[in-house]
Amino acid sequence: MINEKDYEFKITAAGRVNIIGEHIDYCGGKVFPAALSLKNTVYVRGNGTDKINLSWTTLPDKVSLDTENLLQYKSLKYGNYQAGSALMWQQSGKKLVGCDMVQDCTVPFGSGLSSSAAIEVSTIAALAAVAGEEIEPVNIALLAQKAEREFAGVNCGIMDQYASACGKKGNAMLLDCKTLECKYVPVKMGAYSLVIINCNKPHNLVESKYNERRAETDEGLKILKEIAGISCLADLTVKQFDRCASLLHNKIRYRVKHVVEECERVNLAQKAMRAGDMLTLGNLLNESHTSLRYLYEVTGKELDALATAAQSHPACAGSRMTGGGFGGCTISIVKTEAVEDFKKYVLEKYEKATGYKATCYDAEISDGITVQKI
Ligand code: GLA
Repeated sequence: MINEKDYEFKITAAGRVNIIGEHIDYCGGKVFPAALSLKNTVYVRGNGTDKINLSWTTLPDKVSLDTENLLQYKSLKYGNYQAGSALMWQQSGKKLVGCDMVQDCTVPFGSGLSSSAAIEVSTIAALAAVAGEEIEPVNIALLAQKAEREFAGVNCGIMDQYASACGKKGNAMLLDCKTLECKYVPVKMGAYSLVIINCNKPHNLVESKYNERRAETDEGLKILKEIAGISCLADLTVKQFDRCASLLHNKIRYRVKHVVEECERVNLAQKAMRAGDMLTLGNLLNESHTSLRYLYEVTGKELDALATAAQSHPACAGSRMTGGGFGGCTISIVKTEAVEDFKKYVLEKYEKATGYKATCYDAEISDGITVQKI
C-alpha cells in the first residue's frame, strides 16, 4: 500500500487506443487515437542523492538507477523504460534530480495499448515535477519517443507518446504526425460504445517485425520520392499511387497501398465521428483490419479470429486490431444495449477458434498527463 502523503507529486500518463490510422504515423500520416483511463501513475519525491530508486505496486522488485551512468540499464527487465526516459530527459539539458518513485501501472503489458508510452511519459513528467521544471506535454512526448527508439530499440512513430501525454477526456485526437498539429474531436457515439478486447496471444519478435515494416515503407519512399515529388508516404494520393504502383515490387507495393488507403480512411473516419455516423465509422474499421491483414501483414491468426468474431455479431458496426499488431487488442463499435451479449458471443467464438481466452477491458477516454501536488 502506498502512503500518498510520503510523496511530493502524483503524476499520471495514459495508455491509448487507436481508433484508426494504423502504421502510418511513421509515414507522416494523420492518426486518430484517444487516451484511456488505463494508465501509469508515478508517486515521486526528491531524495537528495544521485540515485533514482524505483519500486512498483505490482512487482516485488526494487531497482536503484545511478543518474551518472544511465546507459548501463538498457537490458534491465524492469526499470529499463524509466532509465531510458531519465537519460533522454538528462540529455535534453534538463535538471535531473535523485528521487524515489513508485510506479502503479493499470495498462496491461503487451496489450497493444501502449503501456510503454504511459510509463515513459509519466516518468519524464515526474522527473520534471520533482526537479521544479515546467511540464511541457509535447516535449515530454518527443523525449519519450526518443527513449523508445534509442533505448528500447523500437523505431516507433509519435502516436503513442503524444496520445499518452496530450490526450483529453471524452475526445479522440486527429494528430498530424508530420506537423504535430492536433485537433480534438469529441467522441459522441450515440447508441454505440467502444469495446476493447485483448486476444491474449503471447507475442514475441514484435519489435523486429515492427522495425521490418518501417524499413519496407522507407524503401517505398526512396523509390517514389522523386518521381512523385513527396517527402513522406502519407503525401502520396491514391491517384498518384495508381500511376506509379508498377514501379514497386509486390511486397513494397502492398505496404505502400495500405499506407495511402489508410490515410484516406482516417480522413473519412474523423468526418464520420463528427457526424455521429457509426455505421460508416464501423465500415472503415473493418476495411482497416482487412488492409492490415492482407496488405500490411501485421495481424496474425488470433487478431483475425477476434476481429472476425466481432464483425459477425449483429450489434457490431465494425471491428479492427489496434496498435502495432502481432497480438494485443481489437476495438469494436457495438450497440450499447447489446454490449454484454456481444462480449459473451465474441469470447466464446474466439476461444473455440484459437484455444485462447480473450479479456475485455472497461476503459474510458481520458486525459493524458495529470499532475497532482500532494
Ligand atoms: C506502435 C507504435 C506507434 C504506431 C503503431 C502502429 O504502437 O509505437 O508509433 O506506429 O504501432 O500504428
